[in-house]
Amino acid sequence: MNMSATNTLKSATNTLTWYAKALRPDSVSIKPKPLGMKLDDATPTYWFDNNSFLTHFLTAFSAIFPEGESFMIHSVRLFRADISENKALNKDCGGFIGQEAHHSNEHSIINDFMVKRGIPVDKLEAFIEWWVPLVKGMPEKDQMAITGAAEHLTALFGDMVLRNPDIINQVDPAVRPIWVWHAIEEIEHKAVTYDLFEAVDGSYARRVYGYAIALAFLSVFVSYGTALFMIEDRKNFSFSGTAKGLWWMFGLGKKSGYLRKSAPFLLEYFKFDFHPWKDDNSNLIKEWRPELDRMLAEIKSKAAA
Ligand SMILES: [Fe+2]
Ligand SMILES: [Fe+2]
Repeated sequence: MNMSATNTLKSATNTLTWYAKALRPDSVSIKPKPLGMKLDDATPTYWFDNNSFLTHFLTAFSAIFPEGESFMIHSVRLFRADISENKALNKDCGGFIGQEAHHSNEHSIINDFMVKRGIPVDKLEAFIEWWVPLVKGMPEKDQMAITGAAEHLTALFGDMVLRNPDIINQVDPAVRPIWVWHAIEEIEHKAVTYDLFEAVDGSYARRVYGYAIALAFLSVFVSYGTALFMIEDRKNFSFSGTAKGLWWMFGLGKKSGYLRKSAPFLLEYFKFDFHPWKDDNSNLIKEWRPELDRMLAEIKSKAAA
């Protein structure tokens, strides 16, 4: 990197040090902590509301995490050395890498569990793996833009889950902690890859381009996975369950339409002056951390009984 580019980067990272400190609430920290999840024979196959369609939909999400999060860690590692002078962001990158590594490991437990129950999560994982070298062959800054954008989508997921206790209550108690834990940590580290992208590039055009690619991948992987699981599990197809699931996604009721309601959050990313912490939802972390501890203690005491 030439001298003028280095100076520009230093100036950007100094600004960013102030920016990150100013926007992220002091109560939020990014500390990796494994969950230690276990699923046994008593766990139902359709762990979301006893609904096969919605369980398959959410399992498709779960299948994306190991490869997806490993790609995001790879992107952060590509640029971490460039921002080493920004101590706050560098520390956050370390926390981000640790948290995402744990998420991948824990989601593999759900994914392997579903394979044992006859749902071909491994086929979806193989499909996703096929795309990874192509994305890693893209310009490095494009990869960083995709990662920054993907984190907006996972932050959306975290906010949607924790803001709607009805969703959490629909998850079987054995599977519930992983979704709550993951949602909390996605909110905690929601600005890290955005700040890193802004420090190393920051171009609005590249940000939007990365967002389009991240959205396209997410849509294709989740749609393909859900369709694949539904087809292979067709003997358990339920018309009323699928209709209920579609209402859950797009319905007009107070306790439905969760995907439809996420549209404004999706559009936020197009704002010129967007920053993840302009929407301070740290109250969700404060509310749900103790609740997560309670859930884990309950599972532990049941296992000991
Ligand atoms: Fe994650
Ligand atoms: Fe994340």
